[in-house]
Amino acid sequence: MDFEKLGSFYLGKEFDMKTNSLTDKLVMYDSRDLTTHAVCIGMTGSGKTGLCIDLLEEAAIDNIPAIIIDPKGDITNLLLTFPELTKENFSQWVDPDEANRKGMDIEEYAAQQAEMWKKGLADWGQDENRIKMLRENAEFIIYTPGSEAGFPVSILHSFDAPTISWEDDSELIREQIQGIVSGILGLIGVEADPINSREHILLSNIFEYFWSKNQNLDIAKLILSIQNPPFRTLGVFEIDTFFPKKDRMNLSMKLNSLIASPSFKNWLEGQPLDISGFISNKDGKVKHSIFYIAHLSDSERMFFVTLLFNQIISWMRKQSGTNSLRTLVYMDEIFGYFPPVSNPPSKKPLLTLLKQARAFGVGVVLATQNPVDLDYKGLTNTGTWFIGRLQTERDKMRLLEGLDTISASSNESLNKDQIDKLISNLGKRVFILHSVHAKTPVIFQTRWAMSYLRGPMTKNEIKLIMKDKAQEIKSSSTTKQLPTELSSDKITGSPPTISSEIQQVFLPLVKTPHLAIQEIKNKYQNEISFEEPSLIYTSGVIGKAIIHFQDKSIELKEDQERNLILYSSEFMNWEKSEEIRVQNFLSSPEGKAKFSEIPQNINDPKDFNELKKSFSDYLFYNSNFKLYYSPILKIYSKSNESKAEFILKLNQIARERRDEEVDKIEQKYAKEFEKLKLKLNKSQEVLMKKQASASSLKQEALLSAGESVVGMFMGRRSTRSASTAMNKYQKSKTISTDIDRAQKDIDLIKKEMESLENELKLQVETIKQKREKEINEIKEVIIQPKKSDIEIKMVSLAWIPKWQIYYNENGNKKMEMVAAYY
Ligand SMILES: Nc1ncnc2c1ncn2[C@@H]1O[C@H](COP(=O)(O)OP(=O)(O)OP(=O)(O)O)[C@@H](O)[C@H]1O
Ligand SMILES: [Mg+2]
Repeated sequence: MDFEKLGSFYLGKEFDMKTNSLTDKLVMYDSRDLTTHAVCIGMTGSGKTGLCIDLLEEAAIDNIPAIIIDPKGDITNLLLTFPELTKENFSQWVDPDEANRKGMDIEEYAAQQAEMWKKGLADWGQDENRIKMLRENAEFIIYTPGSEAGFPVSILHSFDAPTISWEDDSELIREQIQGIVSGILGLIGVEADPINSREHILLSNIFEYFWSKNQNLDIAKLILSIQNPPFRTLGVFEIDTFFPKKDRMNLSMKLNSLIASPSFKNWLEGQPLDISGFISNKDGKVKHSIFYIAHLSDSERMFFVTLLFNQIISWMRKQSGTNSLRTLVYMDEIFGYFPPVSNPPSKKPLLTLLKQARAFGVGVVLATQNPVDLDYKGLTNTGTWFIGRLQTERDKMRLLEGLDTISASSNESLNKDQIDKLISNLGKRVFILHSVHAKTPVIFQTRWAMSYLRGPMTKNEIKLIMKDKAQEIKSSSTTKQLPTELSSDKITGSPPTISSEIQQVFLPLVKTPHLAIQEIKNKYQNEISFEEPSLIYTSGVIGKAIIHFQDKSIELKEDQERNLILYSSEFMNWEKSEEIRVQNFLSSPEGKAKFSEIPQNINDPKDFNELKKSFSDYLFYNSNFKLYYSPILKIYSKSNESKAEFILKLNQIARERRDEEVDKIEQKYAKEFEKLKLKLNKSQEVLMKKQASASSLKQEALLSAGESVVGMFMGRRSTRSASTAMNKYQKSKTISTDIDRAQKDIDLIKKEMESLENELKLQVETIKQKREKEINEIKEVIIQPKKSDIEIKMVSLAWIPKWQIYYNENGNKKMEMVAAYY
């Protein structure tokens, strides 16, 4: 089909406003143009969401991932794709209220909707195979932060130190801190101005303190740090003068009640908010992750959207530069998140995205009913405008002003009067496409969406549609089993005496007592009463090492850090050790604590030296560095790059190469076509002269036939809409031999053009196949360390914090130790 062009998105067909009818000129949008972002503006019902779903579908077909924020719940419809389009497919998903309004029963309505979709798709030249392709090329998942209806999202690690460096990007990181802090304060109902509010200043300083040291923060640590800040002064004031202890306690209690509330549990379980997990699955299949936030309160939405934008920025900054589209970020209704005057926490990160994302191939698409909802600075950073029907004068004015600014920057003049008149007359699904990459605006109607656009889905419907994938959630969940505990440990009130030759460290406290209680509560249905938890340190051994993997032949130079912990029951045997995520160790306990006794062998420096040796041996045999290698593209994966991330990278590199190759081939063919076109024109002139007596209508047909044939082959960049009007040419019936000869010439040229087209198609197909091969062939390379590559940083006695909790369950007194260091 003509619209299956590599790297081009089929959005619809041009619409003729004069005759008020659809033409057959396809509107093919170069996906690269999306890297300068797009806004979609139009009144309710104008078809914005439909258009953006078209965009997303095209992206999915081209293996481009998307992060989607769905405030209304309309984008969940991306999961409603049915290649067979039967009424059975539809009956489960039609809106029963809608059926009711139409006076039909569900079966009847489903049959009608199925028919409508079948016809709609057929009218726009789309068939079963295209829907299949859409479903095969990407995985669509609905995430529901704070709820278990779809896949839950965990924000547990969202306060981890950013992966971008503090030295290079402190300004950006401070912006992120500001957003997160406003978000957190919003959650507990504190409306804080970043400059004047002491809450904001304190929290920001805590974040900055830890992050600038590259240390992770989490909610519990944040709460503890509010009570006992890690610094003594803020500005010139003593901390207690600036923000008295009692008030700080109040603030920390508010945060604590928030996280101790049962509903907050849903925010801490599920897939960690880490972008790489949302753009491809474990097998490297491209993902469209839909973040459904319709069920959240305003402040929860703001908090989540801000966190998500921040994560996107941090992820994006680690990607290589590119000219091709890498990932789409789409927000369906931007109202309230990007306003012109006020500064909600979401605004800064979004502005940063619009300014910086282009270099990394990340395209942002925003939709809104009113142009007044959009910040002016954001608009000037947007290269494509999809303008649908607008009614009020105020909206139109605002839009035209905005258009002025982008036209001025792109040196294109726009006929404002014309557009002004047009905007009020646009019909449903009809948009003006104005792009800084094109010379003139195009008016078009959006193509029929493959997804069944039934409108917002309810939480229950989301649960139903995501049920099949529930198994996957379980396996990727972050909840961890507690290590088994030795109940025979003797507990003492003060730290045991340790040989001075043995180094001791304390693992930092991560979990608050409330969270620990919550963990136990979650196991039972009935009411349980708890005693105040007490902090206990049990002993263990911690080994920390860095392994310097090196391989000159493939330019590999990677450091791998390993932190292994041995619990007291498993002393001396590293085989039983566990890997832990700790960045910093402390030199003293955090607060009042009791201690378990330590086994005798651990208090002996000789034994400790043995442990050091066996640690090194253990690492030598049990460490390796797994790399992936693409033999065709000759690229190795980076450290910490999962297979899925690597496949995604190959995908991008292959896409860049493809875009370049297609450009080159099209340019080459464009030249040939140009030559043929000249020849054709000449022959046509000859023919016309000879046909001077023939009717003018015939001549016109002749001309336009030549033009449309050429139009179709031309490059994506030179002509944005390819005409499919073909073969209107009518054979001259004149018998004169001269005319005959000219006619033959023309036929010959047309044949040449046709074969050239076939050649072009063949070449493009070869490129496509090559790309598939480039992505699919991946080898695993395992690199073993040399003994000398292993650098032991320490092997120390470790004090492991736990909450000892006594509780009463159904009349039985019970005790549990809950790990407090993760
Ligand atoms: N591309 C399309 N294919 C098929 N139907 C469409 C398409 N676009 C829009 N529609 C139909 O038109 C209705 C309204 O369109 P849409 O939801 O896109 O409007 P909107 O501009 O997003 O409105 P709102 O601002 O209220 O969200 C849809 O529910 C759907 O039935
Ligand atoms: Mg909409």
